Amino acid sequence: MRRQAPLSLGPAGAAIWQQPLEAARDAAKIIPTKPENSMPTRNQAAVDFLTTRRSCPAKLLKAPYPDRAQLEPLLTMAARTPDHGKLEPWRFIVLQGAALTRLADLAEPAGAEAGIPEDKIAKVQTAFASAGLIVAVISSPKPSEKIPLIEQVYSAGSVCLALVNAALASGWGANWISGWAAYEDRFLQPGLGLTAGETVAGYIHLGSCDSTPPDRPRPNLNAITQWVDQ
Ligand SMILES: Cc1cc2nc3c(=O)[nH]c(=O)nc-3n(C[C@H](O)[C@H](O)[C@H](O)COP(=O)(O)O)c2cc1C
Repeated sequence: MRRQAPLSLGPAGAAIWQQPLEAARDAAKIIPTKPENSMPTRNQAAVDFLTTRRSCPAKLLKAPYPDRAQLEPLLTMAARTPDHGKLEPWRFIVLQGAALTRLADLAEPAGAEAGIPEDKIAKVQTAFASAGLIVAVISSPKPSEKIPLIEQVYSAGSVCLALVNAALASGWGANWISGWAAYEDRFLQPGLGLTAGETVAGYIHLGSCDSTPPDRPRPNLNAITQWVDQ
């Protein structure tokens, strides 16, 4: 059975424009600083990072890859993510070495059994076979009368972005990838040992990225923002 993708958003930002980075930085700088002791000190480096951050496409990632000592702080930062009810509805599976080969080999039989088209199977094979380090962020919702499932899935998605940003801010390249291998039971159960209700919120590819990655056009703020005063 194919798992349902958690959420699908429409093309909200169809009209796009590209804000020059300098203009974006200047806009960020004119926000007044809060009085002392009322809030954390403004962190201009963090503001600059968030204004300009961009993923490194997985195919550009290469060695050296973060080792365990380098990865653990990134996972710690990623786990510092909003989590309504403190349910921890997510967990990590770190994939490297033979695990990546095993998953690449599993893609063909699992994909064929699930009726996935050959080109999409080949794409997943290549993604695992050519990677050096992938962190699978597992959406692992917990039974709760108070916290809706969708909030738990949002939190898992937030962990994915937090991990990407932690890696980028630490000087690594990172890319959030999904595809059928994130949702298909025939792949997830034998490949990652996921249990019922669990899915992969994201395969976060990590590595070194020494060429400036191409940016994509960014949303037109006016097209996606409604200001409501009354
Ligand atoms: C849930 C999710 C799944 C994604 N899956 C893929 C994918 O399978 N393949 C891909 O090329 N990009 C995928 N992306 C897009 C990239 O991760 C990323 O958004 C894009 O490269 C631009 O990233 P940036 O805004 O950090 O520069 C996905 C993004 C999200 C949020």
